Amino acid sequence: MELSFRLNKIADKVTQNSIIADIGTDHAYIPIFLYKNNKIKSAIACDISKGSLQKAKDNIFKHNLQENIQTRLGNGLEKITIQDNIDTIIIAGMGGMLMIDILKRGHNIVESAKELILQPQKDIDKVREYLHKNNLKIIDDEMLKDDGKYYTIIKAIKGKEQTPYKKEEYIFGRIEIEQKSNILKEYITKQMYKMEIVLKNIEKTNVQSRILEIENEIKMYKEVLKCL
Ligand SMILES: C[S@@+](CC[C@H](N)C(=O)[O-])C[C@H]1O[C@@H](n2cnc3c(N)ncnc32)[C@H](O)[C@@H]1O
Repeated sequence: MELSFRLNKIADKVTQNSIIADIGTDHAYIPIFLYKNNKIKSAIACDISKGSLQKAKDNIFKHNLQENIQTRLGNGLEKITIQDNIDTIIIAGMGGMLMIDILKRGHNIVESAKELILQPQKDIDKVREYLHKNNLKIIDDEMLKDDGKYYTIIKAIKGKEQTPYKKEEYIFGRIEIEQKSNILKEYITKQMYKMEIVLKNIEKTNVQSRILEIENEIKMYKEVLKCL
C-alpha cells in the first residue's frame, strides 16, 4: 500500500512495536500501513463520522486485518479506555483547536500513553503551547511539503522542556529552527512575501493597529530567517 508523503512521514515517527490509536482515522491508511510493515502490534482506528469509519472498515477488511485493527465510532479519545494500553496516539489532518479539545477531554488516556504524534492543520503554535502546559515535551518537530502544501508533524512524550520556548519557537518549532530547516526557510520567505503585499494594500486604508501588527510579524519572521 502506497501512502502520501505526509502520511508516510507520520507513520515513520511511530515507535516500533507500539499499540496505536489513530483518532480521525478516515480511511485507516496509517494503521493499515503500519501493521502491514510490521511496525505496530495492533491498532484502534477511531472516527466521529460513520461514513469515515465505514471507509476504514472496508479498507481493513480488504487487507484482512480485522483481527489486528479495531474500529470505534466516537468523538476523539472517548472510546479508548486505559485497558486498551495505547502506546501511541496519532491525530492528523485536523485543526489544532479541535486537536487540543480532543487531548483535553481524553487527558487520562493521553497521560497513560507513551507518545503523541500530531499533525495539526492550523493553530500549530497553540498545540505546542498546550503540550508544554500539560507536561509533554516536543522531541521531534518537522515541517514538510507534500503536493505543494506545508505540513508540520510534532512528536511529544512525557516530560518538561529544559528551556522555555520563545514566541517564535512556538510558531515555527524550536527543532526546525535549530536544524535550519530548508522547508521552513522556504515557508517563511513565502509568508513574508504575502504579508508584504497585504501591508502595501493595507497602508492605503491607514488602519494603524493592523499595519503595526503585520510590521511586527515581518520583523519576527526576518529574525527567524537569520537563524536558518
Ligand atoms: C481530513 S481527515 C484526516 C484523515 C487522516 N487522519 C489523515 O491525516 O489523512 C479528518 C478526519 O477526522 C475525523 N474527525 C473530525 N473530528 C473528529 C473528532 N472529534 N473525533 C474523531 N474524529 C474526528 C473526520 O470525520 C475525518 O475522518
